Amino acid sequence: MDIAIVGTGYVGLTTGACIATLGHVVTCIDIDKAKIAGLEQGKLPLYETGLDELVTSERRSGRLRFTADLAAGVRGAGIVFVSVGTPPDLRGDVDLSYVRKAADDIAPHLSKGAVLVLKSTVPAGTARQIKRQISALGRNNPVASNPEFLREGSAVADFFNPDRIVVGADEPAAARSLASLYAPFEKHGVPVVVTSTVDAELAKYASNAFLALKIGFINEVADLCEQTGADVASVAACVGHDKRIGSAFLAPGPGFGGSCFPKDTRAFIATGRRFGANQTLVESLIRSNELRKRKLAGRILDHLARGSVVAVLGTAFKAGTDDMREAAALTIVPLLQQQGVKVKAHDPQCRTVGAKMLPAVSWHDDPYAAVADADAVVVLTEWPDYRTLDWRRIAASMRGRTLFDYRNLLEASAVAAHGLRYIGLGRPVSQPPAAAKNGSASTAGDWHDIAAAPY
Ligand code: UGA
Repeated sequence: MDIAIVGTGYVGLTTGACIATLGHVVTCIDIDKAKIAGLEQGKLPLYETGLDELVTSERRSGRLRFTADLAAGVRGAGIVFVSVGTPPDLRGDVDLSYVRKAADDIAPHLSKGAVLVLKSTVPAGTARQIKRQISALGRNNPVASNPEFLREGSAVADFFNPDRIVVGADEPAAARSLASLYAPFEKHGVPVVVTSTVDAELAKYASNAFLALKIGFINEVADLCEQTGADVASVAACVGHDKRIGSAFLAPGPGFGGSCFPKDTRAFIATGRRFGANQTLVESLIRSNELRKRKLAGRILDHLARGSVVAVLGTAFKAGTDDMREAAALTIVPLLQQQGVKVKAHDPQCRTVGAKMLPAVSWHDDPYAAVADADAVVVLTEWPDYRTLDWRRIAASMRGRTLFDYRNLLEASAVAAHGLRYIGLGRPVSQPPAAAKNGSASTAGDWHDIAAAPY
């Protein structure tokens, strides 16, 4: 079957390249001509593990094509995916203007029987609205919903190893056509849930909201562990072995970020309000997540004297991506700077984007250069490379002694053995055996309570 994908961000491009490997001819379409020209030469507009190789091999096979000509790309396709952006609007709801515009542009070129499939994350009822929209243009093609559950950084692996595939269709022919695309997965035992479009749309938000709730919950449990002397890793392991709960997404961190959870949880509560079914748990989660970033910034400030230097290791919202959207660094770093702290930073992928988003930071390509002469080091992203840094060398080059590991990435006792005071999340503070150096004074109480400030 010929497939068209409108919108070549990380979801559209990953989906396109992966579907091509199933033997379909896929045309990826974008209005950004420079992006398409780059893709035609094998240049990807983003970093995504394994995608470069996949795009190269599928382009060579002739199954993956790129065009900025929407009409030509859509014509003849049996399934047309829409995977354009759905940014938040000013009220925290979803701005559907790109989806609506794409539907308007696609409609005149849809072949008879072709299914228009919304892959973009859209609120409950959107597919039905788009169906009415294209009907008004004289097209009776079905509009379906096929939400994606791809994580940035492991999107390719997630595509090939899904926990389930959701096919939302209000017309049996559309359900059959979309389900046939995923038949190879069903053959291998992957559940393909065929349901209505509104169920599929809501399922996407409910999934992201629930995962975000797990993170918010373990973050608050980590706070309690710190006060009671418990270790959150051990608590999470005990809790996660319960199959009804599961061990995934129980790693404490500096608050969830990225292009999905913050935006989707806000949109979820906006939908709840619109339909008079308030999502109070998720409302509270959003507040707790914002407050967490402020509190963790306050914790750093509590250990520093004014005019200190902090080295931040990792600014991406998580490892494996160059994405800094809604990353904890975007809240924590400015809060430090507002209090006169000088911030140096390193991230293996975010230097270019980071220099734009946090211009007052001194950026370094080498983590050892970033930490030199720092009063404190803060690990904000769980890049595996940070685990194998030479922490003895780092301790020797720092001016101060404190390491904040806001991802619980490092072995506390090993780091402390090099003379650093290790402060993780929800685990006991590890002190160096003997204070080798004592460069940075603790000035607890010297800073005003930034955690209490409104966000
Ligand atoms: C998320 C979902 O996991 C995907 O299933 C979904 O398809 C995607 O959103 C989307 O809606 O497009 P993603 O935003 O790429 O994927 O990232 P996650 O791996 O889910 O992480 C989100 C945030 O939670 C990150 O800031 C991460 O560091 C944080 N996190 C995650 C934790 O703090 N603790 C955890 O245990 C897991």
